[in-house]
Amino acid sequence: MSDALLSVSGLSVNYGHIEAVRDIDLSLQAGRVTTLVGANGAGKSTTLLALSGLIPKAAGRVMFDGHDVTALPPHKLVAAGVVQVAEGRATLTTLTVRENLELGAYTRRDGAAARASDLERMFALFPRLKERENGLAGNLSGGEQQMLAIGRALMARPRVLLLDEPSMGLAPIVVQGIFRTLREINAQGLTIFLVEQNVRQALKIAEQAYVLENGRVVLHGRGRDLLDEPRVQEAYLGG
Ligand SMILES: Nc1ncnc2c1ncn2[C@@H]1O[C@H](COP(=O)(O)OP(=O)(O)OP(=O)(O)O)[C@@H](O)[C@H]1O
Ligand SMILES: [Mg+2]
Repeated sequence: MSDALLSVSGLSVNYGHIEAVRDIDLSLQAGRVTTLVGANGAGKSTTLLALSGLIPKAAGRVMFDGHDVTALPPHKLVAAGVVQVAEGRATLTTLTVRENLELGAYTRRDGAAARASDLERMFALFPRLKERENGLAGNLSGGEQQMLAIGRALMARPRVLLLDEPSMGLAPIVVQGIFRTLREINAQGLTIFLVEQNVRQALKIAEQAYVLENGRVVLHGRGRDLLDEPRVQEAYLGG
């Protein structure tokens, strides 16, 4: 497809003799939310790690904005604009909220003024983080830490944002807030690739969705359409 910002073709990943991901094709349309959903152990994280260059691929190609980035090391992918949100608990707990956000911009070469204005944008997006600007990240709630992790990734000025189960371990009301935020940043034009076990929420916000089972893509379609798919309802939405 012509307007794919990032695409993965023929991706396979092995852990020793275990074939964790087998011959996957994915395409992320520019400006859209794409989701990869599936049960425990389906291979979702493995797919993300391989496309971010964090684990080796047994086979496959990754194209980003017309360039073959298959062999790029993770830091070069980040510099190119492919940025993964760290797991919520991976915020640097002994640094302040503000310091965590500032660290997100470390790969950027634009000026201090641009970074300062982005910091203000993060505080507008997450008022809760503004209130806690000078507090230690370690004292934040789980939901706030997830917001900080997203904010820190946004500070890198991504062109595509990758998230691995941002809803994990959070209360439903907090999950709603996270998904609302993802909608908001997508509405501002950011391309999002969301890996989720929260199949219902993910399919609701995703333009395109892929369902992964045992390392293979078994269904692909519009998120809203997959919500009505009997096979998806039975397997992931409680009938
Ligand atoms: N480091 C590893 N070494 C060996 N096997 C692994 C490793 N990481 C994952 N696996 C296996 O690879 C398969 C895919 O795991 P993966 O973590 O990608 O699934 P997932 O869809 O992200 O699951 P979850 O929803 O639990 O996060 C599973 O069978 C898992 O046990
Ligand atoms: Mg996972």
